[in-house]
Amino acid sequence: MRALVKQQAAPGLWLADVPEPRTGPGDVLIRVLRTGICGTDLHIRDWDGWARQAVETPLVLGHEFVGEVAHIGDDVADIRVGDLVSGEGHLVCGKCRNCLAGRRHLCRSTIGLGVGRDGAFAEYVALPASNVWVHQAKVDLDIAAIFDPFGNAVHTALSFPLVGEDVVITGAGPIGIMATAVAQHAGARHVVVTDVSEPRLELARKAGASLALNVSDADLAEAQRELGLKEGFDVGLEMSGRPEAVRDMVDNMTHGGRIAMLGLPAREFPLDWSKIVTSMITIKGIYGREMYETWYAMTVLLEGGLDISPVITARYGYEEFEAAFDEAATARSGKIILDWTV
Ligand SMILES: NC(=O)c1ccc[n+]([C@@H]2O[C@H](COP(=O)([O-])OP(=O)(O)OC[C@H]3O[C@@H](n4cnc5c(N)ncnc54)[C@H](O)[C@@H]3O)[C@@H](O)[C@H]2O)c1
Ligand SMILES: [Zn+2]
Ligand SMILES: [Zn+2]
Repeated sequence: MRALVKQQAAPGLWLADVPEPRTGPGDVLIRVLRTGICGTDLHIRDWDGWARQAVETPLVLGHEFVGEVAHIGDDVADIRVGDLVSGEGHLVCGKCRNCLAGRRHLCRSTIGLGVGRDGAFAEYVALPASNVWVHQAKVDLDIAAIFDPFGNAVHTALSFPLVGEDVVITGAGPIGIMATAVAQHAGARHVVVTDVSEPRLELARKAGASLALNVSDADLAEAQRELGLKEGFDVGLEMSGRPEAVRDMVDNMTHGGRIAMLGLPAREFPLDWSKIVTSMITIKGIYGREMYETWYAMTVLLEGGLDISPVITARYGYEEFEAAFDEAATARSGKIILDWTV
């Protein structure tokens, strides 16, 4: 089968012929229809410091996908050949304390699809049945392809109650844009989104931001003034991974405010912790998606009319992967979809 492979420990990606994945009795083989390109995939293509320590070559990339079940192992129940499915890209151990308690998103031995094992940028991908999400409700294929990052947005945005609250989202990358739509849909009063990229701020406006602020020449105090806020933001969703964004957020939270942090900083950075203490701010780290509360929430939010389509800004055939990756690497784009059926 054809697959996008990291063949060698060097920058680049290769479209190669590789054997179809083998499946065991508890596994599902999926014919991939569409995939989404993620920042993780860009890191692996570039072969940066993170990728060098996280990835062993050769590796089939990719964790954001939708596909059709092609084969099920003998022990698989409740999934049928032909079902439309996406996959939870975190494979958990099933044995640690958190796994045993049903808190699988807190597993301490998580393996990432397309990072620690062969992924979904291929004609076929295999997953344990417990990682397969069957789309019971009708869903657009492009949207189904990005359930993984949509799940990051939903997990983060629904970490704290939002009804009537003033919310700030730092970072209008694909996940920040989806979180904007979720926060609006979930009943926030104002949703302020910041970025340094105008095209991305424009996408945040399309997704329903009350105010999209370019922080190259302004800060969140300005947003508070414009919206007439007096005591700061109630909830912060950090989706940039940038130290200056975290500091600006902390400076502009209400006392008792709550921050959910998804953005992954590239390195350690100083923060005025005395502000966090004296303002009694709660900070919660977010990793991945809750299995499977987040997946349930995604499905029913879409059924209830949530529209995240503005986040998808281009589609390519898989053979044009170089152009697709280049576009995903610009700070202008939303989500880029690769079609594996062309
Ligand atoms: N915790 C997890 O499970 C998880 C999963 C996926 C992604 N992530 C992280 O979440 C973040 C968002 O993901 P994404 O795919 O949308 O990433 P992205 O890199 O596309 O988006 C980050 C955005 O932040 C913007 N930015 C840069 N400086 C800024 C500043 N000072 N203030 C505000 N915004 C600024 C960038 O222009 C960019 O648009 C990334 O840090 C990513 O590594 C975490
Ligand atoms: Zn991803
Ligand atoms: Zn575990």
